[in-house]
Amino acid sequence: MVTVLVCLGSSCYVRGSEQIAATFEQLIEKEGLQNQVDLRGSLCMEHCAMGVSVRVGERVYHQLSPEGADKFFYNEIVPLARES
Ligand code: FES
Repeated sequence: MVTVLVCLGSSCYVRGSEQIAATFEQLIEKEGLQNQVDLRGSLCMEHCAMGVSVRVGERVYHQLSPEGADKFFYNEIVPLARES
């Protein structure tokens, strides 16, 4: 199980983090990864100047965009989910 935290603090929210979380949710369902990915919203991660922040396991990523959410999902989340 990999934990994915999407920052829903105000700065990330206005940059589309809720859309990013919605995309992840849809893709988790599409790929049948409900038992491998624990998707949660997070309070501010204190990296507001760095664009939308997402934590995947122990690693924090910045500057995510709604447009790039599906690519990020397949590149960064799916491999960890499949090996968990
Ligand atoms: S609101 Fe997301 S890091 Fe601050």
